[in-house]
Amino acid sequence: MITDLSQTMDSLMYPQERYERLADIAYRRSGPDLCDLGYANFHGGPPPAVLEILRDCLEDMRPLDLQYTPYGGAVITRRLIAERLRHSHGLPFGWRNVILTPGAMAALNILFRAIAAEDSSAEVIVPVPCWLDYVLYLNNLGLRPVLAPLSPRTFRLDLNRIAEAISGATRAIVFSQPANPTGAIYSREELCGLADILRTRAGNRILLISDECHRDTVFPGSRFVSPAEFYDNTCIVYSFGKAFRIQGQRTGYIAVSPGIGNQEGVVRNLERLCRATGFCTPTSLMQLAVRGLLSVELDAAPILRRRNMMLEALRAAGYEAAPSEGTYFLYPASPVPDDFQFVEMLAGNGVLTLPASVFHHRGHFRVSLTAPDSHVERAAQTLAAVIGQCRSSRNYVSRRTKAVG
Ligand SMILES: Cc1ncc(COP(=O)(O)O)c(C=O)c1O
Repeated sequence: MITDLSQTMDSLMYPQERYERLADIAYRRSGPDLCDLGYANFHGGPPPAVLEILRDCLEDMRPLDLQYTPYGGAVITRRLIAERLRHSHGLPFGWRNVILTPGAMAALNILFRAIAAEDSSAEVIVPVPCWLDYVLYLNNLGLRPVLAPLSPRTFRLDLNRIAEAISGATRAIVFSQPANPTGAIYSREELCGLADILRTRAGNRILLISDECHRDTVFPGSRFVSPAEFYDNTCIVYSFGKAFRIQGQRTGYIAVSPGIGNQEGVVRNLERLCRATGFCTPTSLMQLAVRGLLSVELDAAPILRRRNMMLEALRAAGYEAAPSEGTYFLYPASPVPDDFQFVEMLAGNGVLTLPASVFHHRGHFRVSLTAPDSHVERAAQTLAAVIGQCRSSRNYVSRRTKAVG
């Protein structure tokens, strides 16, 4: 079943605002002892190499370095990113294919605005669970999100559901991978299958928005592949906030696939939208910093260690939890049907996690592994104790971990 959604801002914001009230109470109750595994804020701050680059940018500053940059961003920065993308994605990106934005949120909004400008009642397919704000942005711009569930428990792309969701009004599909909240990485076969469907059912007219914010955090045994390799009508969205741990510095980009039709027109339109919105260029300081950030070696090992520890503890305690293949997250099943009620129980015991309802889904909760080791370890003990309390409740949902693999 494809869920059709036309909700008001109030109902879309409800789970998030309810969570924020809960977080506020939990912080007031537990203070610094609270194990905050809710939002993906890095409690340890950015790596030293990133801080050094930011310091160097200020020290080596030339007089015009902090003045206006062109819409779309400084050419040198765009050129360096394009060069990187040519290597990582194997496609001939040029500097104009890269449009710098203040983070991925702005990149998504610019792309959605471009769609709305062409067709104000367009539909956009969103596989769910999804990153929390896609639906909010689409709704805010008057576009119609059409939710297409991922396959239950394993969270793979369900190509049949996506095919069913395509209508004459579909203009785009948007998803993240490595996926937030599930941590899934889609295989070449899944992405080729998706590209085939988009080509055969809609003759390439559907824009694929590939949100690659988490592509730098991939665990051994998995490999990230961009759908841009298989489908020309693709725009990539990226954020420097994640792997570099500077989410508040609001820096990211859209990369327009070199294979897209009317490339010149698409790029010009996106640059113009950056201007027309008036708030869609990152600060000049961050555009300078990006030039250095591109050479920082990223290390996913600390996250992998926490992921392994938490996964083992969750499974030992009886939770159903698929191993994430990347990202900072685990997305276990809630042992009671109401995921919000479960998240409230955890918060009452000093552990914050995000309920599935903020991801347009049910029956799960997201654990972020960005808290300090000691908090992740304590949270694992609390989760084991709380499932024990749930077992004695008549609402307890018994699920076997081994079915997930
Ligand atoms: C999948 C995904 N997309 C977009 C964003 C927004 O990124 P940014 O903070 O760079 O705007 C996030 C942030 O959590 C994310 O996880």
